Amino acid sequence: MPGFEDMDVDTIWMDGEFVDWENAQVHVLTHALHYGSGVFEGVRAYDTDNGPAIFRWEEHLERLYESAKPYDLDIEYTPAELTEATTELLRREDLASCYIRPIAYYGYHELGVSPGDSPTDVTIAAWPWGAYLGEEALENGVEVMVSSWRKHASSQVPTNAKTTGLYVNSMLAGEEARRNGFTEAIVLNKEGNVAEGPGENLFLVRDGEIFTPGLSESILGGITRDTVITLAREHGYTVNDDVSISRGELHTADELFFTGSAAEVTPIRQVDNVEIGSGTRGPVTEELQSAFFDLVEAGEREEWFHYIEQ
Ligand SMILES: Cc1ncc(COP(=O)(O)O)c(C=O)c1O
Repeated sequence: MPGFEDMDVDTIWMDGEFVDWENAQVHVLTHALHYGSGVFEGVRAYDTDNGPAIFRWEEHLERLYESAKPYDLDIEYTPAELTEATTELLRREDLASCYIRPIAYYGYHELGVSPGDSPTDVTIAAWPWGAYLGEEALENGVEVMVSSWRKHASSQVPTNAKTTGLYVNSMLAGEEARRNGFTEAIVLNKEGNVAEGPGENLFLVRDGEIFTPGLSESILGGITRDTVITLAREHGYTVNDDVSISRGELHTADELFFTGSAAEVTPIRQVDNVEIGSGTRGPVTEELQSAFFDLVEAGEREEWFHYIEQ
């Protein structure tokens, strides 16, 4: 993955101002750096046939504010202000197709675990970012392993909040997989059922029906998950989106795929060295993947796109 030094973006929106990329810095005693007390979003904008547009921006913003709630993070900017900041950033940097990272976190003031009077700082950055798991993965699928790390339970942390600190679990699972020669991990929940990937939701196809773990399985309620469920139903599929999936069912699936704002729709061709279906991208995955990419290329479903006026 290319580093930021190779990227041609000059500005980051930070607490109400556009600052130079290299000056977008925080103090080392920032609360969130020590305790993971931030919430964030990962969003994509696409250069659609109807012009540059942020995909499902309103839903991402809504999740950002909802993630902030359990932590009492008081985001002082309104959704309209964050929208204006983001669209202005994309315009300034001439970014049509890019990844957008809004983050709100406890900042610099004191360093008890209690954030006390620490401010809630808010930043929005954007940069070009290609296929998360690689271009080749979109066509041929990825090889994954079931991680030995379990996902945190929703009785331990709010798993429906996209909290920075929780991503050490994702990092451990993903790095374990890569050390073992796989591209990505699948993480089981505390009960031992399938939860999701480190940064993706998971779908299973069997006998022409589609299954995905329910929201109570310690998953993040993915916005791409919702998009794919909607598209699949429109394509006539039965989608079971409130089920438990056992580890063994992964191996006997006809098809498996990941969804996520970063990963988009990525087929899974092997789990723990066991081929899934024919060991290539399956037909249902391909159909839904095409539906997804056609959608974001066309940019025609207005309620799902926030267009950037030039
Ligand atoms: C743990 C986890 N699950 C699922 C997803 C997919 O969510 P979305 O489709 O909203 O990007 C993500 C990515 O944000 C994630 O980090």
